[in-house]
Order: sequence, then structure tokens, then C-alpha cells
Amino acid sequence: MRHLIDPTDLTVRETEQIVALAEDIIANRAKYSEVCKGKKLATLFYEPSTRTRLSFTSAMLELGGQVIGFSDANSSSVSKGETVADTVRVIRCFADIIAMRHFKEGAPLVASQYAGVPVINAGDGSHSHPTQTLTDLLTIKREKGRFDHMTIGFCGDLKFGRTVHSLIKALSRYEGIKVFLISPEELRLPDYMLAEMSENSKLEFREVRTMEEVMPELDVLYMTRVQKERFLDEEEFDRVKNSFVLNPEKLLTAKKDMIILHPLPRVNEITRAVDNDPRAAYFRQVENGKFVRMALILTLLRWADENRPFPHTPVFNEEYVVNELVCPNRRCISATEDVDQLFRRMPDGTCRCAYCETKAR
Ligand code: CP
Repeated sequence: MRHLIDPTDLTVRETEQIVALAEDIIANRAKYSEVCKGKKLATLFYEPSTRTRLSFTSAMLELGGQVIGFSDANSSSVSKGETVADTVRVIRCFADIIAMRHFKEGAPLVASQYAGVPVINAGDGSHSHPTQTLTDLLTIKREKGRFDHMTIGFCGDLKFGRTVHSLIKALSRYEGIKVFLISPEELRLPDYMLAEMSENSKLEFREVRTMEEVMPELDVLYMTRVQKERFLDEEEFDRVKNSFVLNPEKLLTAKKDMIILHPLPRVNEITRAVDNDPRAAYFRQVENGKFVRMALILTLLRWADENRPFPHTPVFNEEYVVNELVCPNRRCISATEDVDQLFRRMPDGTCRCAYCETKAR
């Protein structure tokens, strides 16, 4: 059973096939209007969403399928204390595929262990957001025509920005990618991401403090919101909330064909005046999200039809360390739900939590 929990669950070839399928869907909408007839998607959203949930819904409806689910976990039996594992064991009786957003990092991975149907991570805490990555890749392909030999500036909240983490992972598999990490000290990329990027000989990256110093070099400027909901300390949020504001003056030195991406929602980090600039691609990016999710749903359902669902909870192989360590991350699903403490052994001998990638102490 194939799931999409992390962008690297798809090979580069599979990722490009999904992007290509999305482009075919865009060009031939009628051809796909009944391909998921009789299939149901369950959208289990434990955290607010506009784009992701509604684009999944719209995607399944455009494929001829149906959608069930909840957009507020308080209206489900989660409010009575039902675990992720039990919830998906129930949902599998009603749906053929699940898209889950959860505030706990690793919750969709737990779901994938018990669902028996494909599970799509629709964003887990500040960890990962692989379908936003597919959206970003389709947008980059349509706007720039390539994924390689590009300079990208990621600006804003790189610490909690799950879309940034996932897109960097996906792009780091291509040649000629140069990344500028533009953030205040408090919002630097997490250590596990910096370590992974340092180990990747293909990827060139540098941390900087202003967007102005790198603007002329950029092919893509990826803006992000400072996410109030992720801060445990409100004073820290107040200190960094206005760190970066993109306005037309700052774009004067940018390339004429640079594109500006943003996963949205935005607050004040891109002024309204920028919306009229042809380089502002963030609303085109939203529309691409629906098409790429159509391609993903179709692909995962086809793969599920080829391999019968695995009916039991999984047995972990020796690649993992099970129940010998404890994850130190309070935002990890393993901190609050009764799941196996599951650690992946890394080539350097260290262990990282399989749910949230935090290093074991
Ligand atoms: N980009 C994104 O994940 O938006 P939503 O939070 O509205 O789903």
C-alpha cells in the first residue's frame, strides 16, 4: 500500500509523472471527469485549512468521486479521546482514500500504519506538507519549465514552515539547485533539515538575514507567513512577526522572470500592491493545487488497486529502533498518543524519530 507522508515517498520519476498527469488533466478535463466514480475520499482535518481541504474536495468531485470527512475534529469522536489509529480504522470502512491534516507531527504516518487505504499527509504540524510541494512543483514547471538549475530564496518562517521543509527536500534531488535561507535567527530552518542539506553534495545553500541582498540572483522567491499558532511564547512571536515584508520597491532589483510563490494564507508579508505584478504567481499556484491533487488521488487509487490493502498493523523491519528511545519533541504525535516509539537509524549512527525527524538525545 502506497501513501504520501513525505515528499520523498515518491521517487523523482514518480513525482514528475504526477506533475505530468496534472498537466494532462489541465489540458483534457473531460477525459478525467468520471475516473473516480464510485470512490470516496475522506478529508480528516484536525487543523484549519482553506486551500488544501477544499482543493482535495474539488479534486475528488472533478474526478467523479465523492467526499466525506470533518473540518473540525471537535465535531467528531476525537473530542471524546479517540486516537488517530482508531479513527482511521473506522474511516477505512467508509472511504477508499484519506487526506489528513493534523497539528501533531507524524499523525499521518501513524494513520498510514492502520488505515488499510492510501493516506495522504495534508500537513502535519510544522513538519511536512507534501501536497503543497506537488502544487509548488507543478507551478514551477508551468512558470519556469524546469526543476533544475535554479536559485530559490525561502523567506520568513523557516522553522515552522512545513511547506519550506518539504519543497527543499523535493528540490534537493535535482542538479544545480542553489538555496538562500532568508530568516531571522529565531526562525532558522530546523537542525535536521540543515544537517540533511549539509550532507547533500548536490545542493548549495546559504543563510542570510535580508531578502534585498539576494534578490537579483533569485529565479523563485518563496515567501511564508510567520505562523502565530506555532509559537509557544507570544513575546517571541511579537519580536519576529514583521521580519519580512515584500513590496514593489524590494522587487526593483529582481529578475524580470522571477516568480513569487507563497503557500498562503498571507498576513502582511506580501503587500497588496505586489498582487498586480505579473511575477506574483501565488494565486495561480492555488489553482495548480487542485489539478495536482487530482493527479495524486488518481495515482494512489490506481496503485492501491494493483496491490491489495495490507489488512494488519505493520511489522517494522530492522531499519527502525522500536520502543528503546523516547522522542523529545512535544509537538510529535508520540508525545500524546499511545504509539510505538519509532526511530529510524541514520547512516551516521544517530537515530531520528520516524514521526517528526527530531534527533534522539
Ligand atoms: N497552503 C495551505 O496549506 O493552505 P491552507 O492552510 O488554507 O490549507
